[in-house]
Amino acid sequence: MSSITNINSYEILDSRGLPTLYTEVILKSGVMGSAAVPSGASTGIHEAIELRDKDTKRFRGKGLLKNIRSINSIIFDALVGLDARSQKNIDAILLSLDGTKNKKKLGANTILSVSLAVARAAANYEKKALYKYIGGICSQQLPIPLINIINGGAHANNNLDIQEYMIVPVGAKTFKEAIRWSSEIFYNLREILIKNKLSISVGDEGGFSSRFKNNEQPLEYLIKAIKAAGLNPEKEVMISLDVAASEFYKNNLYTMSSEKKQLNSLKMSEYLFNLRKEYPIFSIEDGLAEDDWKGWKELTNMLSKNTIVVGDDLFCTNKERLLKGIKKGIANSILIKLNQIGSLTETLDTINLAKRNSYHTIISHRSGETEDNFISDLAIATNSMYIKSGSVARSERGSKYNRLIILEEKDNN
Ligand code: PGA
Ligand code: ZN
Repeated sequence: MSSITNINSYEILDSRGLPTLYTEVILKSGVMGSAAVPSGASTGIHEAIELRDKDTKRFRGKGLLKNIRSINSIIFDALVGLDARSQKNIDAILLSLDGTKNKKKLGANTILSVSLAVARAAANYEKKALYKYIGGICSQQLPIPLINIINGGAHANNNLDIQEYMIVPVGAKTFKEAIRWSSEIFYNLREILIKNKLSISVGDEGGFSSRFKNNEQPLEYLIKAIKAAGLNPEKEVMISLDVAASEFYKNNLYTMSSEKKQLNSLKMSEYLFNLRKEYPIFSIEDGLAEDDWKGWKELTNMLSKNTIVVGDDLFCTNKERLLKGIKKGIANSILIKLNQIGSLTETLDTINLAKRNSYHTIISHRSGETEDNFISDLAIATNSMYIKSGSVARSERGSKYNRLIILEEKDNN
């Protein structure tokens, strides 16, 4: 009764109004599971390939009809009749149908939509919450949210070189309290921006995309907003940055246009080290570019004693890249994005490798999102310490936090 009888896939819209895939897997019992895949803007060059039609007459080349055709033909033919509970086997089949290292034949987006829909169908068949199905009775711990309330870089058209300024409610006793604090800080920040005649329009991840004097000024504003909410910056709420430095790295130099700075690796690391000295910074993600391994080693040495040093584009949720980082002693945490690698099994493998080597895992959304909140369940299932899902504003971000608020309350009853 848990065998796959049908798969339907649709071209739906993501939060940027661009097409993405939504896939349903239907079992013999009639039980169904579905998933929609996200899409990045500041994508790492080592990510698995997001396949698009490239037919400029539809969605400016971003259509997904080819992907849907693959799902209806070779993927359906290979999966029909298989037990949806054999996730590992199904993912292995999907990988072998593609047969390339970076999933360029079928597309990581195609494979992932099926992989996640299979997991949901199996969880529904077993009448278990998704996190319980994936993590079993070990899945207990709610993550601490990293909430992005100022957007820059590729996610906004302001002048900020740093892509994300996040607040981290480290002192909140519950997830619900963490979200309430974040909402209060967000609205205090909004008021402060208005008072200072700065724009309150938002970027791709729902954080304010105002024009600031330089990359440091948002940190001052965040501290003011935290205090205005009656909270203590450092003890109760800290700040995290996603520098997304690959975006402004060229010819061995980091060019921060808002400050007219061109820095080599070491100077860039020192710049971040000095920010860390000045402000209550909890974590720094992608402080350097995706292949600047030598620079990363220095950055890790400078920061890792008191800072979460996160690799996103650096690792791309890829086990081999993470292993290289572990061997070299680079970073101490990894950002986990399902669509960077393209299947649930590979994502879980990377998470396990990280945990076995004492790297924190931060389960993450993408800048192009949907209402799908798979990552909330994944965070609990893997007892990940952190989740990053953008601002408290915008429902495609909130759906992840809302799922966790509800699960926290349910589990306490
Ligand atoms: P992206 O941004 O989804 O546009 O890659 C998120 C991130 O860099 O963490
Ligand atoms: Zn990032």
